[in-house]
Amino acid sequence: MDTASSDSVIKRYYRERAPVYDRVYRYPERRQNLLYLERHVANQFAGRDVLEVAAGTGYWTQFICRKANSILATDVIVEALAQIKLRGGTDTLSTRLVDAYSLDELDQTYTGAFAGLWFSHVPVERRREWLISLQRRLDPGAIVVLLDNSLAQCERIPLSCSDERGNTYQDRLTDSGEIYRVLKNFPTEKELLEATSGLGSGHRYQELEHFWLFKYVVDSPLVQ
Ligand SMILES: C[S@@+](CC[C@H](N)C(=O)[O-])C[C@H]1O[C@@H](n2cnc3c(N)ncnc32)[C@H](O)[C@@H]1O
Repeated sequence: MDTASSDSVIKRYYRERAPVYDRVYRYPERRQNLLYLERHVANQFAGRDVLEVAAGTGYWTQFICRKANSILATDVIVEALAQIKLRGGTDTLSTRLVDAYSLDELDQTYTGAFAGLWFSHVPVERRREWLISLQRRLDPGAIVVLLDNSLAQCERIPLSCSDERGNTYQDRLTDSGEIYRVLKNFPTEKELLEATSGLGSGHRYQELEHFWLFKYVVDSPLVQ
């Protein structure tokens, strides 16, 4: 089993998974929720210039790019960005290799931010730091939408352990037979509100059977 630091495990795990990652969107029990979310998420970004963090194979990108004014889909894995390009897309879509923890290297600001199935991989102790770094790339009035798995995901992959900071982990088996211990958290509404306190207004948490959705609006430049 691969037990290196959680960040490097996650990167290696998703590098191996990139070609087959989209299977998670074919689980029949998720279909109903996905039908709703594909439309709903895209609508949040109508006419906006969107920064997408940890875009993966671009499953959500393909819907958002049809409504947004522009979208920059970023990920740290070149194999993931290659999958986005295979989808085609619109002339509103561009991609860039960017580490989610190095958003400062982007020189532009955006009117929307989206991260799908990413926040669950952010360690509890880095949540606030990551949200603040995201906010530095956003204009006042920008909308932030985080989408992630609900605890129902553990029916397929049970939690294997937790650490002293409250992070939880799953042992994930890949097609090659390798097992990766992947950090995977399931933040509550209260935790999401705490992590984003002072970072915006109009917070809204929505819980579906298989996913949760959290959004808020950036209302002033960051002073911290
Ligand atoms: C669960 S997948 C989500 C992909 C996509 N957003 C979706 O919802 O289908 C997590 C993604 O995070 C990416 N990732 C892992 N560590 C990262 C990092 N430090 N910076 C940016 N992306 C990262 C992985 O390459 C992977 O594509």
